[in-house]
Amino acid sequence: MDMAPRKLAAGNWKMNGSLAALAEIDSLLGGDEPDCEVLICPPATLIHPMVARIAGGWIAVGGQDCHARDSGAHTGDVSAPQLVDVGADYVIVGHSERRTDHAEDDASVAAKAVAAHEAGLTSVICVGETEAQRDGDQTLKVIARQLAGSVPDCATADNTVIAYEPVWAIGTGRTPTTEQIAEVHAAMRQALVTRFGDGDAFRLLYGGSVKPGNAAEIFAIPHVDGALVGGASLMAADFGPIISALNAAD
Ligand code: PGA
Repeated sequence: MDMAPRKLAAGNWKMNGSLAALAEIDSLLGGDEPDCEVLICPPATLIHPMVARIAGGWIAVGGQDCHARDSGAHTGDVSAPQLVDVGADYVIVGHSERRTDHAEDDASVAAKAVAAHEAGLTSVICVGETEAQRDGDQTLKVIARQLAGSVPDCATADNTVIAYEPVWAIGTGRTPTTEQIAEVHAAMRQALVTRFGDGDAFRLLYGGSVKPGNAAEIFAIPHVDGALVGGASLMAADFGPIISALNAAD
């Protein structure tokens, strides 16, 4: 590996939070600045006020989705340049809730990632198997297919982060075993190294029921460079200890 990638603690607020919730940002910023990178992806309505609240501090802000086109007649959608316009640096694409709720397939996720990169955003591309796929011993096959289809050729370690999020672990309080996470992350690393010259340097996040109580164990797994955190990112009292655990990890 050329250079150890900077670890990333990413929060996904999903469709939660109001202006009042920005007080959580003040609490986080009240702590010491960590060596790892910290990102919060609030609902679109909160991106601009969150950027203003952070005021150049050590938390980056991202969107939860973007359209593949820059502008036009797409009611309800937000484009990558619009996210950049209000101060976002990142955007999540291909979250399993988007894939399910909005029938997004690998090709549309890849197109969104391309739009994100062209606008100057770093994409956080999500992949993950369903419980039925894991039970059917299809996990590695599904992850390989999603990586091949969702990660565009223009991806680099600088503009792309990959998040492994088993669908059955999201919001359920259930997590894979450390061996299961290690197996998937090693396979993802291998696939990226095979396909991209800088595949070693891509940051690989684990997501799905990460909590203060299990974060340290997850961050000790090889090729886990951080986490994508849903529920436990909403409150500084939970997200703060997760950031600290990542900061303390080797
Ligand atoms: P969770 O969500 O931490 O609430 O399980 C993770 C995610 O969906 O990104």
